[in-house]
Amino acid sequence: MRFFATSPPTTHTTMTTDPKQAPSKAEATLSTSAEAIEEKVKAKKAKAVIQAPPDVATAYLIVRAALTSVLGLPVTGGNACYASAFQNIFLKEPHTGKFSLSLGKKRGEEFAAVPLPESSDDTTKLWDALESACTAMADAAEAIRVTQLPLSSIVQLYGSTALDSSYSKVKNPDQLNPELAQLGSLLVASPPGRPYCSAKGISVRIDRSQSSVTAGKKSRKAEVTLKFVVSQSQPDPEPSLAQLENGVVFEVHPSWSMSEIRLDQGHELKNSMEEVKQDFTAPLEATNAVPGQDDGAVGDDDMVVNVESVSGKIDYTRLVRQFGSSILTEDVLRSFEAAAALPLHRFLRRSIFFSHRDLHTLLDNLAKGSKFYLYTGRGPSSSAMHLGHLIPFLFTKYLQDAFGVPLVIQMTDDEKFIFKGEYDEESGYNLEHFQHLTIENAKDIIACGFDFNKTFIFSDMDYVGTMYPNIVKIWKACTVNSVNGCFGFDGSSNSGKIAFPAIQAAPSFASSFPNVLQADMLCLIPCAIDQDPYFRLTRDVAHKLVSKSHPLGGKPALIHSKFFPPLQGAMGKMSSSDENSAIFLTDTPQVIERKIKQHAFSGGRETKEEQRELGANLEVDVSYQWLRFFLEDDEELDQIGKDYATGSGTYWSTGAVKNRLIEVLKDLVMQHQERRAKITDEDVRKWMQPRRLL
Ligand code: TRP
Repeated sequence: MRFFATSPPTTHTTMTTDPKQAPSKAEATLSTSAEAIEEKVKAKKAKAVIQAPPDVATAYLIVRAALTSVLGLPVTGGNACYASAFQNIFLKEPHTGKFSLSLGKKRGEEFAAVPLPESSDDTTKLWDALESACTAMADAAEAIRVTQLPLSSIVQLYGSTALDSSYSKVKNPDQLNPELAQLGSLLVASPPGRPYCSAKGISVRIDRSQSSVTAGKKSRKAEVTLKFVVSQSQPDPEPSLAQLENGVVFEVHPSWSMSEIRLDQGHELKNSMEEVKQDFTAPLEATNAVPGQDDGAVGDDDMVVNVESVSGKIDYTRLVRQFGSSILTEDVLRSFEAAAALPLHRFLRRSIFFSHRDLHTLLDNLAKGSKFYLYTGRGPSSSAMHLGHLIPFLFTKYLQDAFGVPLVIQMTDDEKFIFKGEYDEESGYNLEHFQHLTIENAKDIIACGFDFNKTFIFSDMDYVGTMYPNIVKIWKACTVNSVNGCFGFDGSSNSGKIAFPAIQAAPSFASSFPNVLQADMLCLIPCAIDQDPYFRLTRDVAHKLVSKSHPLGGKPALIHSKFFPPLQGAMGKMSSSDENSAIFLTDTPQVIERKIKQHAFSGGRETKEEQRELGANLEVDVSYQWLRFFLEDDEELDQIGKDYATGSGTYWSTGAVKNRLIEVLKDLVMQHQERRAKITDEDVRKWMQPRRLL
């Protein structure tokens, strides 16, 4: 009788209700005045529990289960998270329901395995993940089991997480007999008689305009408010999937009391939220960029560069001083130009590659007949690479062409697993995830146009054996203290982190590639400056790995780049978890245009008049800065800079500069996509095959 799939909302007067809703003694002694009657009517109404229609009641369970599983909330025990009472909005708007889940303080971090999103893009990702999780749960169509137990037993057996806020302050819990519904790992207590139906065929949409996430730095409370809309694609003819078993005690899995993601959608959500975050923090992550006396802070007070964060304007001159590298001077550039078969790359003309170690020594030796090879790498942390990731590879390709030299590219899938990997009770460690990303990222790297006959790409996971003799020598040469001091690790770091630097160091020695390179070749490493700590360490022990005749005592030479600024601007705080901070190599022309128009930080003025009078601040203007990276023509860049800085000519306004940037990037990204689309897994295997390079 209880399982009507399509019955209208019913009013169900309960025998035992929340004491808050029971008539008070004072009320009972009221006279029969008009107010008293009104009061009685009110009290009667309050006593009535309005039951949701079965589809809404069932969808509520599905949505709550999905939310709990995706965010990885504990479902039993403790007082982790309270749901608000289920709101009766279906009375006004059929097939809808609303509730909120409160997750304690800050970003729900103390309970949830996936911290609540702070940006609107991440919130969208949460809704997407939820909808997809709801579909998965409805498809799996587990039986909803219902039992009736005293409130006090529910709390005792399962903790108070199963209760909603209307039960949270009940005085005499023994007098209340709510029904406890179970769907998967979710347990929800509700007033008796809630008419659940089968979950099968129910589909749920999140009404995004009326759902929200309250979390973030300022709010003290973390809360998710959800309005959902139900449709039943095929109402199940056998709603008896939901079972009522009075007095039955449900078994709970021990892991239900832990913060643990229980659905793939949760893992995907977490990864996708972190990917973007990682992309901007990764360069400095794992590298205590500034070892030494001060705590990693460089430059003025508001500039921070350390393992955890990068913010403020980066003072590159000071960074170079602290690192102990050298500024790429006119002199060095001139000898570089003399040795190279190509004119200076725009990255060199515009000081984007700006610092080095022993580049002049390498060039001197080149003149004396020494040979060198190039070494660079990528930690495959996300499948979609962005423009910033392209910089070192574009430059390395130029170096290969300019010097006609061999190149080895290290894919540190091991590194990313050690730093970012996850363990899941069911599926174990996700090491394969990073091995797969290696293949995907390798395609983007190959698409940069390297010379196949001169390039060897390798994954640490498969090639490490050949490098092993060098790795053990480096381990033997480095103390744990020197590694910890350089990278900011300590005794609580997993031991893989402490072992890893030797693995990034090893490719700096030609002897790590016995069948690929000639022994004792010199090595030049193009990389972003944050990678320098690895090679400082390498250079310190290098003499122990080569023969005495090595012209640089085994030390690799380096050439360092500056960071590529995020769309929101290099001066402000990096919006690390915002997908709109970057242009991905997979973005469509429309997305590129939208991101730049909406998000590229402008150094232009508020009004047209001011802009005409004062011109833009080029240093903080992201569109102009990005053009410095990608617009080849010096004259044009110069013209744009002049116009924009003075508020005159063709490029007087932000709009005009943005339009030019959009053209340049659409071109670049579309061409990249075309080249990448042609690269197969089989091709990648060929590039990753050890073979003698010319
Ligand atoms: N650690 C680098 C990263 O996280 C990858 C890398 C390995 C690398 N070897 C390198 C980068 C050599 C530059 C040069 O991206």
